[in-house]
Amino acid sequence: MAGESRRRGKFITFEGIDGAGKSSHLAATADFLNARGLPVLTTREPGGTPLGEKLRGLLLHEAMHLETEALLMFAARREHLARFIEPALERGDWVICDRFSDATYAYQCGGRGLASRKFLQLERWVHARLQPDLTLLLDLPSSTAGRRIAAQTRELDRFERERADFHERVRQAYLQRARAQPQRIQMVDADQPPETVKKLIEDCILRYCL
Ligand code: TYD
Repeated sequence: MAGESRRRGKFITFEGIDGAGKSSHLAATADFLNARGLPVLTTREPGGTPLGEKLRGLLLHEAMHLETEALLMFAARREHLARFIEPALERGDWVICDRFSDATYAYQCGGRGLASRKFLQLERWVHARLQPDLTLLLDLPSSTAGRRIAAQTRELDRFERERADFHERVRQAYLQRARAQPQRIQMVDADQPPETVKKLIEDCILRYCL
């Protein structure tokens, strides 16, 4: 309506180890919210802006020092927040993002061994006042996820090619973060048929966002 400002949108993120099935559930969630008449934008990290997508290309395919990796993840995130996420939420759009800072905690701290104090400094710098309204952590055993990745025919990226113990450390770091922030991070058992997982995700959204 003219002159009436729309309420700030909700920010929902999807997380989980590679092979957890986030991307398809994220698309289904966008359809679920669209069907309720909500203005939904989907995006991803690293990426989501022209510069961020270039950084994604480097991050997924070029070997680099672990701190360089963490800094580039947050550089892409700063750009994404400033140019896409914040303006969208301000306009009243809902933003559903495939991964956000919990992924940096899980992959760079848990997987690669970045000091969590350095992660916290970057997180505070890049988004001190903003956290997702809801994070859906799709959890499943890393052995199951590993089998799903192995069945892929496309070329795998640098993270997907990591060994099983890397993916197990990433999973444990995600679980640790979920225990530390139980209001925001909802764990969804993703080792179930897709329809069951979809229903669990919709229940979380109805409960925490609508
Ligand atoms: P992913 O969502 O798995 O992309 P796709 O579904 O196209 O394979 O994200 C790409 C990879 O980036 C994933 O393996 C995890 C990694 N990643 C990090 O290591 N740290 C981060 O902060 C983010 C956002 C992603």
